[in-house]
Amino acid sequence: MVQSVGNYNLDELQQHILICHGSSCKKNRAEEITAAIRDEVKTQKTSSILVTRTECLKRCSDACNAVIYPAGVWYKEMTPGAGRKLVKKLGKGKLMKKHISYHVGKYKEATP
Ligand code: FES
Repeated sequence: MVQSVGNYNLDELQQHILICHGSSCKKNRAEEITAAIRDEVKTQKTSSILVTRTECLKRCSDACNAVIYPAGVWYKEMTPGAGRKLVKKLGKGKLMKKHISYHVGKYKEATP
């Protein structure tokens, strides 16, 4: 069951999706993407994925950007459909390959 942010159970947390809401990403559908991702998390009835809006992630030319941790994967040019696919993949313990712009090396080998 998805809980309110103030009562989020960290024991169940497995993935944290950060979505940029800086000006360039907002112009490139950040609100729609966030809504799609949150809707997909709700559809999956999972508490293992936390979704957070961020300030500019300093990759404005790739807008809209999203990052997932602990995998350390950066996604560029996200769309609402890609956001839904990302959540579905994470729910299966996999990464979405499309839209990857960078993968933090330290975690590359450990990613599903
Ligand atoms: S506005 Fe999103 S990376 Fe700068």
